[in-house]
Amino acid sequence: MTHATRERYRQLVNQLLEHDRRYYVDMAPAISDAEYDRLYHDLRSIEAAHPDWTVGESPTQRVAPTPASSFPKLVRDIPMLSLDNTYNADELGAFCERVRKGLAGEAPSFIVEPKIDGIGIELQYRDGRFTVGATRGDGRIGEEITANLRTLRALPPVLAQPATITVRGEVFIDKNDFAAVNTDRELSGDELWKNPRNAAGGSLKLLDARECARRPLKILLYELVSGEDFRPLHSEALAWLRTLGLPVSKDISVASGEDDLGRRVTDWAARRTTLPYEADGLVIKVDAFAQRRLLGMTAKFPRWAIAYKFPAQRAETRLAGVQVNIGRTGAVTPVALLDPVDVSGTTVRRASMFNWDEVARLDVRIGDRVVIEKAGEIIPQVIEVLADRRTGAETPIVVPTVCPSCGSTLVRRQDEVALRCERRACPDQRWKAIQFFASRGALNIEGIGEVLAEELVKKGLVSDAADIFNLTVERLVPPEGDDDTAGVRVERMARKSAENLVSAIQKARASATLSRLLMGLGIPHVGTVAARAIARQLGSFDALCDASPAERRTAVAAIDGVGPVIADAVRTWWAHPDNAALVDRLRACGISPHEPQAPATGTGPLGGKKVCVTGKLSRPRSEIQQQIESAGGTFVTSVGKSTNFLVAGADVGKAKLDAARKNGTTVLDEAALDQLIRDGK
Ligand code: IVH
Repeated sequence: MTHATRERYRQLVNQLLEHDRRYYVDMAPAISDAEYDRLYHDLRSIEAAHPDWTVGESPTQRVAPTPASSFPKLVRDIPMLSLDNTYNADELGAFCERVRKGLAGEAPSFIVEPKIDGIGIELQYRDGRFTVGATRGDGRIGEEITANLRTLRALPPVLAQPATITVRGEVFIDKNDFAAVNTDRELSGDELWKNPRNAAGGSLKLLDARECARRPLKILLYELVSGEDFRPLHSEALAWLRTLGLPVSKDISVASGEDDLGRRVTDWAARRTTLPYEADGLVIKVDAFAQRRLLGMTAKFPRWAIAYKFPAQRAETRLAGVQVNIGRTGAVTPVALLDPVDVSGTTVRRASMFNWDEVARLDVRIGDRVVIEKAGEIIPQVIEVLADRRTGAETPIVVPTVCPSCGSTLVRRQDEVALRCERRACPDQRWKAIQFFASRGALNIEGIGEVLAEELVKKGLVSDAADIFNLTVERLVPPEGDDDTAGVRVERMARKSAENLVSAIQKARASATLSRLLMGLGIPHVGTVAARAIARQLGSFDALCDASPAERRTAVAAIDGVGPVIADAVRTWWAHPDNAALVDRLRACGISPHEPQAPATGTGPLGGKKVCVTGKLSRPRSEIQQQIESAGGTFVTSVGKSTNFLVAGADVGKAKLDAARKNGTTVLDEAALDQLIRDGK
């Protein structure tokens, strides 16, 4: 019996590793998520009964159980170099010329690879086992972040062969994941990540690998160190890494000669946006390791490789002013107001400057000529000040000391970069909280946008979310001549609009789910994912409210994937008398939503179907995900063999459509998805 269980244990470890590989490396899962979960659960049960059987490569061991206090340094013999840059065809031609000279006229083959804008890392495998992973650091001395790298599901703990190798590559967060996580961070009041690169870097430096495991980190490898000991060509080395089960980009190609290289580089200028991750250029490398050896390196860079940077989406304009923005949670941030300027097809009038430290770092002044950058999907940002273009008429930016909305003194909490207005009754915070409560990701009340939310708060009609449910047509548009202060005329609102608004509020009240309400309350750290997990677990607002603080904390902390930080945030939020009063008032208005339980897999109009969603859609992705899941479908983030539908919005990437065609996935638009869910066809 024990023998049979042990056999089953080994089988499960191997099966799960293989499924991880299919899912994360091939992007073609062979089994459903539910089936994967079942195998994983079986594995966990065996390990619980026989802890001494647990092997290091078991998928349960990806996450180290205790946080590190710091990262040990790793000194390497073969430094991680960086690359010299080229920006145009002439500079690239000069590089080819230098290579040809260095090889005494011999024509090399070049490899063209996307230059992934992430964080360079190095991995060591001993006898096929992953042993050490480290950051680049200064090239020679890096930081050992093995526990964090182990959480990357695309990295096999054991290779297909017992090879002893050192490989290098890039850890990154792809564009979709970056947008989704930032939306979530915005919703939960966390500071936004500046760009995917910083987000990846910050995640890799987390001391608690359990936190790192929650970040959507991806990885692609692009160099086999001492490659010549294994294969004569870099392209062959990469192919070998793939057969070992390691993730290598599919977008790497060989150029036959300089003309072909030139064509490939030009082709990429248009293709770059189809990549799922940010690429800031290409890397051109000599293929043959023997030729690389002949070429050697300069003091800083290898002579056998070069970066070809894509033209940056930058523009120069004038900083016309700075707006002081007060967020829903009281964070007071600077927004650059610019003379309108065109950046790759869109007019940019405002740009982010993140925080007041950044303003000081840039030493930017009003009237300055500034360079702004709009990288991919990211909010435009001011990246440079052209100080030599100053005329003397520029004026310094004054860091506010009082809130421009409510006049209270701003504070800077310890360990925070943000300046804050801590007055809960601050009108700007109030209306932003109302706007947020009514937004599509939360209660979805049509009509309450920025303008109306501000008007409702400033006219004193609404001061918190519960007040929304007490709005009536009469209060919004009191009859002319009515001096009763219960009614305050809302600017430019016609009776018909007031009627529409009141009916939109009733509609939202009827269709609210517990998770949407939780999102709307703006509890720190409670984004879509946590709100839905909490809502599914507790079922109803009444159950959540009627629990004692201790019960609530225990219930929330016990939910898979939620954790103590969120549980504490919920407790702290509830403990504040204003919040407790808001909850009571919402209940008094008859707000007591439940959470629809997802139908068992296999039932519902999308029962057992896998659905991937891509491109710009008319509704937030979280809403579509919920719709798919409540129809019994599984929401997947990439198109593989078992994906049944690809819902394509505007600007759908060619890569996703190609993948759909290759895998026989049916492509639908949003309307067709709605119809499918409604009519089952
Ligand atoms: S090769 C000497 N290949 O770009 C070889 N690097 O500026 C150097 N990078 O530090 C590395 N994609 O972090 C190489 N396909 C690619 C790359 C790549 C991104 C990063 C890497 C490196 C930096 C060089």
